[in-house]
Amino acid sequence: MNEVEKMSVKKGQDIELTIESLAFGGKGVAHVDGLAIFVERVIPGQKVLTRIFKKKKSFAEAYPMEVLEKAPNEIEAKCPAFGTCGGCRIQNLEYADQLAEKTRQVRDLIQRVGGFDNFEVPLALPSPQAFHYRNKMEFSFTGNPWRNHPDDEDKPLGLGQHIPGRFDKIVHLDTCYLQKPIMNDIMNFVFEWGQKYNWEAYNTKTHEGWARNLVLRYGEHTDQIMVNLITKTYEKKHMVEFKTAIIEAFPQITTLINSITTRLSDVAIGEREEILHGSGVIRDRLGEAEFEISPYSFFQTNTRQAEVLYEEALKGADLQGGEVVYDLYCGTGTIALFLAQKAKKVYGFELIASAVKNARRNARSQGLDNVEFILGDLKDVLSQSTNRIEAADVIVVDPPRAGLHRNVVDDILKVSPKRLVYVSCNPSTLARDLKLFCETDYKLLSVQPVDMFPHTTHIETVAKLVKK
Ligand SMILES: C[S@@+](CC[C@H](N)C(=O)[O-])C[C@H]1O[C@@H](n2cnc3c(N)ncnc32)[C@H](O)[C@@H]1O
Repeated sequence: MNEVEKMSVKKGQDIELTIESLAFGGKGVAHVDGLAIFVERVIPGQKVLTRIFKKKKSFAEAYPMEVLEKAPNEIEAKCPAFGTCGGCRIQNLEYADQLAEKTRQVRDLIQRVGGFDNFEVPLALPSPQAFHYRNKMEFSFTGNPWRNHPDDEDKPLGLGQHIPGRFDKIVHLDTCYLQKPIMNDIMNFVFEWGQKYNWEAYNTKTHEGWARNLVLRYGEHTDQIMVNLITKTYEKKHMVEFKTAIIEAFPQITTLINSITTRLSDVAIGEREEILHGSGVIRDRLGEAEFEISPYSFFQTNTRQAEVLYEEALKGADLQGGEVVYDLYCGTGTIALFLAQKAKKVYGFELIASAVKNARRNARSQGLDNVEFILGDLKDVLSQSTNRIEAADVIVVDPPRAGLHRNVVDDILKVSPKRLVYVSCNPSTLARDLKLFCETDYKLLSVQPVDMFPHTTHIETVAKLVKK
């Protein structure tokens, strides 16, 4: 044990740490005298000078002050805003190392929290595109761009991403490597137009200003493009000029929308929409299923990897054609519609009324009449529905980060499907819930991480269970 390791850790203390791994959520982990110390914005292998800002009995937290030694596998991040922008946290790790790190996190949680000792978890399935994979990006205007480039000094207007933990600070971006190159060209066109015509950025503190957000969406299989400019008021004459100029520069734009909102909070949603060009919607596909995407409808943001994720779910469901399937937490019904092509009947359950409306419309437009969507909170609605609908042979769940409500676990156990497929965006609650199922009637067959969001610390996982 060296001198540093012998020291007891105190709040305010500066300490050199070698980062060992990334914990779930993306913080780096190091140990001093057996005490775990979590550090933000670092990667495994880096030697970092840190300052302890929180000390508890079982762990401490520190922020990085200086990277003293790079990690052996560290690479130069592509993006000049890396480290400031909140979009990509681990762009300075090779993609293969990102996958290995995320896989290790899932394996560790399944074994440690789930209690599945020695359960093997294969390497996370890589995204077909490691960059330019996002089909939707939201940017905010600012009158006070974060000084990331020397050029920013002259800019009274900026357009970019929030800095993590700083709701009022936005880093201006010329390029975001997560979106398609053409979206960067469109983003820069809008920014330059705004500069030329002295657009005043909306200020979330004073509520003055006009330009709020720019939301860009792209149909991966259709190349359709939606541009949605969110402003405080509708300035008709100026918007008509803007439309003529942007459509001339980018005839590929399928639809251009000006959404208007006087809401005080900084959420990129309009209270009403002026459709300046096209129909106000774009279309895209997931596998064979086609979807209409309106400015605010939820659609998986990495289209090609969503298809990989749903194929995994489909494999787990192992449908022969005669099964009844429940899709719990179905959103706009993307999984339900994917499975409906191979099942006798699919019932989708969802809390949000607008998502259910969208799901029903998507089913109708695909001519699928073997899908039914049920609106309600799953902690009540599943038990209320089971006596009037057919019993499920297969249940697929895709809950939010909090995982399954205990009532939902109990109700699934009562329905007692032959197969259970758990799609999860949080391996920690996944591990907790898998334990509940396997303590009783189910056996865990496989756990497959799927990397939907390269360069971020998020990871999706598909677990397959079968009745014992
Ligand atoms: C991770 S998303 C899954 C979306 C969908 N499966 C997909 O792939 O597009 C979780 C969904 O669960 C819904 N939800 C959250 N809490 C719920 C609850 N208590 N009851 C029913 N649905 C809920 C959310 O509205 C959201 O659509």
